[in-house]
Amino acid sequence: MTATLLERRDELVAVLGSARSSGGRVGLVPTMGALHGGHLSLVRRAAAEATTVAVTIYVNPLQFGKGEDQDLEHYPRDLDRDLEAASAAGADLVFAPPAAEMWPEPPLTRVHVAGLTDRWEGAARPGHFDGVATIVTKLLALAGPCLAYFGEKDFQQLAVVRRLVADLSLPVEVVACPVVRDPDGLALSSRNARLGAEERTVAPRLYAALLAGRRMVEDEEATDPGDVEAAMRAVLEAEARFEADYAAVVRPGDLSRPEAVAGTLRLLAAARLGGVRLIDNLPATSPHPEEA
Ligand code: PAJ
Repeated sequence: MTATLLERRDELVAVLGSARSSGGRVGLVPTMGALHGGHLSLVRRAAAEATTVAVTIYVNPLQFGKGEDQDLEHYPRDLDRDLEAASAAGADLVFAPPAAEMWPEPPLTRVHVAGLTDRWEGAARPGHFDGVATIVTKLLALAGPCLAYFGEKDFQQLAVVRRLVADLSLPVEVVACPVVRDPDGLALSSRNARLGAEERTVAPRLYAALLAGRRMVEDEEATDPGDVEAAMRAVLEAEARFEADYAAVVRPGDLSRPEAVAGTLRLLAAARLGGVRLIDNLPATSPHPEEA
């Protein structure tokens, strides 16, 4: 069945309000559209766990910085295709508001999650996470879901959302979904479509760098996180077309760098390939327990 398409905030509030009052569990999947297998894995998971699944499609201008006008302007938009794909994955409704509907007046409010947002993606894209946190808070307020689904692909975004939900006591359970990859390891992303054919063949090197880092952590080949980071960077930069931004060993909760390679860690990497910025991450657990 085709999902119901809604464009107005008051319609979304009314439809999901009545789903809740008749005892339904609302699952929300926020997206910017151009839906691929990564997004659809979130929708399928929501369909398995919630009684009403709402997918939002909104290319949020607040999360695109000054140098990113091109990204915003050229963001792929194909609502008919997205509606079909979301429906097939189990969405009951798709909320795709025009910009003027989302913000009748330019918003003066920003949700800022301090600390967590000043590193990694936040350092490369100033203001990005304020834009994300603001729109996510607004979508949660409009939809009032029981469950909200986010991908581990954007690991820092997930940490930011978890923290804002905890800090503001928002009554929603955040559900983290694993990264969906192409068979060669490249994480699915709408940006992959902008890679040239040659670039696409070398793009999985980002994943290879993370795998090399994980192997070092698991095989106790390093105690200094800097050594793991250098090894990941070396894998990336062995391909001249890659320009590494960061390759980092972090604690999964606050994304800070640990003193030593120990306990449960997350490996993060970001690099430019051609004009396209790719990000990816992997979990890695060291046999050394973390010191209390
Ligand atoms: P977007 O990039 O469209 O992604 C929507 C959701 O899909 C995010 O939670 C993202 O982590 C998840 N996702 C994307 N690629 C994935 C993959 N390969 N595997 C698993 N999950 C994947 O992230 C955003 O939009 C925006 O910042 C948003 C949260 C909608 C706020 O505007």
